[in-house]
Amino acid sequence: MLAAVLDDFGTPLDVREVPDPGVRGGEVVVDVLATCVLPYASEVFGGARRYPLEPPVVPGLGGIARVVTTGPDATRLTPGDLVWCDATVRSRDDANTPDITLQGWSSRGDGGLRLSRHFHDGSFAERMSLPTECVYPVGDVDEADAARWSALGIYLVPYGGLLAADFRAGESLLVSGATGNFGSAAVAVGLAMGAGRVVAVGRDRRVLDDLRARFGARVHTVALTGEADEDQASMTAAGGGPLDVVLDILPPAVDAGVVRTAVMTVREYGRVVLMGGVGMLGGADLALPYPWLMRNSVTVRGQWMYPRDANARLIELARAGLLDLRQDGVHTFPLARVNDAIAYAADNAGPFVRTVLAPNAH
Ligand SMILES: NC(=O)c1ccc[n+]([C@@H]2O[C@H](COP(=O)([O-])OP(=O)(O)OC[C@H]3O[C@@H](n4cnc5c(N)ncnc54)[C@H](OP(=O)(O)O)[C@@H]3O)[C@@H](O)[C@H]2O)c1
Repeated sequence: MLAAVLDDFGTPLDVREVPDPGVRGGEVVVDVLATCVLPYASEVFGGARRYPLEPPVVPGLGGIARVVTTGPDATRLTPGDLVWCDATVRSRDDANTPDITLQGWSSRGDGGLRLSRHFHDGSFAERMSLPTECVYPVGDVDEADAARWSALGIYLVPYGGLLAADFRAGESLLVSGATGNFGSAAVAVGLAMGAGRVVAVGRDRRVLDDLRARFGARVHTVALTGEADEDQASMTAAGGGPLDVVLDILPPAVDAGVVRTAVMTVREYGRVVLMGGVGMLGGADLALPYPWLMRNSVTVRGQWMYPRDANARLIELARAGLLDLRQDGVHTFPLARVNDAIAYAADNAGPFVRTVLAPNAH
């Protein structure tokens, strides 16, 4: 089969013949129809993000595929099923604290790295093998919509955060970083889950206006001024009072004070989820005031990725049209143009703009 191989960080991906993956117990082999290329893929493959990816590797974060062969332990999946392949692979030998690798992309800690050596290659290939439990049928979705559906992985990230916050229909949600790729997806998912009101916070007024025009009156926007007191007052006013849930998904370069300003708009007994990268490159800590947390009985939790059942539930939200994947602009590339796709994704990084690789389209 053909696959795009990263031989070394900083080199272009090489499309060439590699051996077909064979099916092993506990695994499923699929033909990859569509896989989303993230805007920062070039930073991963160039080495700038220092991801623990070990070349040579076929990169790529899951996607939409058709089942070719199942292992002897699959009881429901059958060849020909159209499926969502989740790249979040968990070790099976620790129920409480499983190691995690994002197959073909990244991993966490020594255990995650070890796992990535077995589940090594991702979806920038005609065919891939992945753990049976990472494969989810999408039902009678039109194969022509595979590219659009391959963006599920972007929506799954904030969905994991909202599930972690036990976010409920009718509640108010503030998204800090709403103008970004994952932040804009958080706005869409919050609305799909029945948010009474979503406060979208960012700096780019044009994108904020687009969010309001796209999603309507439940979205209230706040353009940051950089003046903490003023920004906090604007966010609270936009929320119609202190917020039920605050989701932060700002990137590493942002000052922790920007996060704190948004976090402290949460109501008494409210919930905060931290999903961004602030602090990962050093700098001042978030430093939320102890008395404020205690006196207001605020819950703060971090969330990386999402639980397994989020996959099946988000597929149902999309199938029901509550999460409308038709809103996404999609640009598709064949496998042979993988390096063009990576460059295109970097140059077209706006909200609801998806770059997709279709490895079996010729
Ligand atoms: N927890 C998880 O499971 C998980 C999974 C995937 C990604 N992430 C993390 O999510 C984060 C966001 O990724 P992304 O791809 O969505 O980023 P992105 O598209 O680049 O979005 C960046 C956002 O941050 C805002 N921003 C940037 N600098 C700012 C500043 N100085 N002050 C205020 N706002 C600022 C931008 O606002 P404007 O555009 O309006 O200026 C935009 O809303 C990353 O840290 C990534 O690692 C987490």
